[in-house]
Amino acid sequence: MRIVLFGAPGSGKGTQASILEKEFGAVHISTGDTLREAVAKGTEVGLQAKSYMDRGELVPDEVVIAIAKEKLASVGNNGFVLDGFPRTVAQAEALDDALLELQKPLDAVINLRVDEEELVRRLSGRRVCPKCGEPYHVDSKPPKSPGKCDICGADLIQREDDKPDAIRNRLRVYQEQTAPVLEYYRRKGLLRDIEAAGGIDEITRRIKASLGVQ
Ligand code: AP5
Repeated sequence: MRIVLFGAPGSGKGTQASILEKEFGAVHISTGDTLREAVAKGTEVGLQAKSYMDRGELVPDEVVIAIAKEKLASVGNNGFVLDGFPRTVAQAEALDDALLELQKPLDAVINLRVDEEELVRRLSGRRVCPKCGEPYHVDSKPPKSPGKCDICGADLIQREDDKPDAIRNRLRVYQEQTAPVLEYYRRKGLLRDIEAAGGIDEITRRIKASLGVQ
């Protein structure tokens, strides 16, 4: 399985990537998670990225392209699920070049379609594990023990960019800079549109059906 999970902020990319990683052993590559780790460690990349991320702006292409290439080069013989990359046409072109070099063409680009009201509901109720990255939602996916990660037991947090102003900005940036990437993949015949409102398990089933896997 070599796929891109595409969609607006809050469409469920991270949630579904984490399920597909467990079920198929495909490596989950999230540029957002990698950038948050860099911010937490205070590395040079993290210091560069933090202000963009807190405002809900895109981090410059050269920074995220370098991250994605490094991650892709390390997956070995495994498949991968790209989550949150590419987000600009320049990133999509760089991804094509990198995958050509690695001789690992994409199987599909899964576009998770969710309306804006639901995106805002999901983002404002999201809580995440700062340690292992697992996403939760106060209503639709609450942790078993309140405020604690089911997987590693760490205290859950609300992301800085899940506050109302940053959410609005992220949705605007998505429409202006990221949505055009859809046309890029539609022209290549790789795009699969999935209605991504509904239960988490049902969306997984739809993704698997669109890929022809069980
Ligand atoms: P990133 O971390 O990639 O954020 P995002 O794309 O905004 O996506 P989210 O993580 O917000 O949402 P998601 O689609 O993964 O949804 P999730 O599964 O968590 O990027 C953060 C920032 O990093 C960017 O703003 C940018 O600054 C920078 N960045 C990252 N990549 C970059 C790139 N390539 N180029 C430039 N900059 C980059 O679900 C959301 C919530 O909904 C959760 O609470 C979940 O439990 C719940 N939920 C999920 N599915 C369902 C369902 N079916 N029903 C009900 N609730 C659901």
